[in-house]
Amino acid sequence: MNELTGKVAVITGAGSGLGRELSLLCAQADMRLALADVDAQGLAETVALLPDGTEQFTRQVDVSKAEAVQALCDATYDNYGAAHLVFNNAGVAVSGPTWTSTLDDWNWVLGVNLMGVVHGVKSFVPRMLESGEPGHIVNTASLAGLSSVPGSSVYCVSKHGVVTLSECLHHELQAAGGAIGVSVLCPAFFKTGIADSERNRPAEYADANPQGEEYAKFVKAAIEAGRLSAADIAQVTMEAVRDGRFYILPHGGAVRQVETRMQDILEQRAPTNPLGTR
Ligand SMILES: NC(=O)c1ccc[n+]([C@@H]2O[C@H](COP(=O)([O-])OP(=O)(O)OC[C@H]3O[C@@H](n4cnc5c(N)ncnc54)[C@H](O)[C@@H]3O)[C@@H](O)[C@H]2O)c1
Repeated sequence: MNELTGKVAVITGAGSGLGRELSLLCAQADMRLALADVDAQGLAETVALLPDGTEQFTRQVDVSKAEAVQALCDATYDNYGAAHLVFNNAGVAVSGPTWTSTLDDWNWVLGVNLMGVVHGVKSFVPRMLESGEPGHIVNTASLAGLSSVPGSSVYCVSKHGVVTLSECLHHELQAAGGAIGVSVLCPAFFKTGIADSERNRPAEYADANPQGEEYAKFVKAAIEAGRLSAADIAQVTMEAVRDGRFYILPHGGAVRQVETRMQDILEQRAPTNPLGTR
């Protein structure tokens, strides 16, 4: 999607981190914005950073709820009559061994990271197809969607799901005429609020992994040490949208990790630990 001026961007998780940076870049490209997040305060802070005159509306949305995402889609069409660039970006992370991960961990993280994307696709794609206008969907996965990281199985399962969903969707939308493109974003660690995801954990999923702390400390340190910023990742993402690129791997080292995993599979050997730990 080359021409963005005047087009409509929908961004979930717009109240922090990457979603905020994508919002700023879309505003700088003179797009009209529909910004969603479960965190109303975060959304207000994002709006305060937008250039004067940016056409936008915000909506408090829990992406794990189908009806809330459908209401976001309806509001977008009511306000603007269109949606061109949809970022299914909201996400949360938990850590800890698979066997002590709680059902609340699984239900919360899969609900937001995977079902959030499912809801975005189900709500927006039919209307985008119906409009006949060019469009693009960007699903935020992770390098954790292309590798298997000890202590992160809940998160990895959710992000592997987003990668394969996006690949299937790409094929289907090509068969449907190719007017709507798809990208799947697979960054390694970068500094945002993701290590503090517990701030968004709903009371109904309060039972957290009792052995999550050690892994969570490692993840927090890796995020703090992230070489690229959220602004860098947003920049690379927008370039990929303009170029119509499907896989977005902003971190160079990611390619080697993916290659090793593929080689492990093809040679039917035990998986290499991407962290190099035992
Ligand atoms: N930061 C990293 O190292 C990293 C690496 C790879 C992928 N990602 C992915 O990037 C995306 C953005 O995360 P971030 O790193 O900017 O973290 P962040 O915590 O700064 O931003 C995530 C946003 O999602 C919102 N959110 C959480 N639950 C929600 C829900 N149920 N409904 C709607 N909004 C909700 C949060 O309020 C927050 O504003 C996520 O999908 C994350 O998994 C992050």
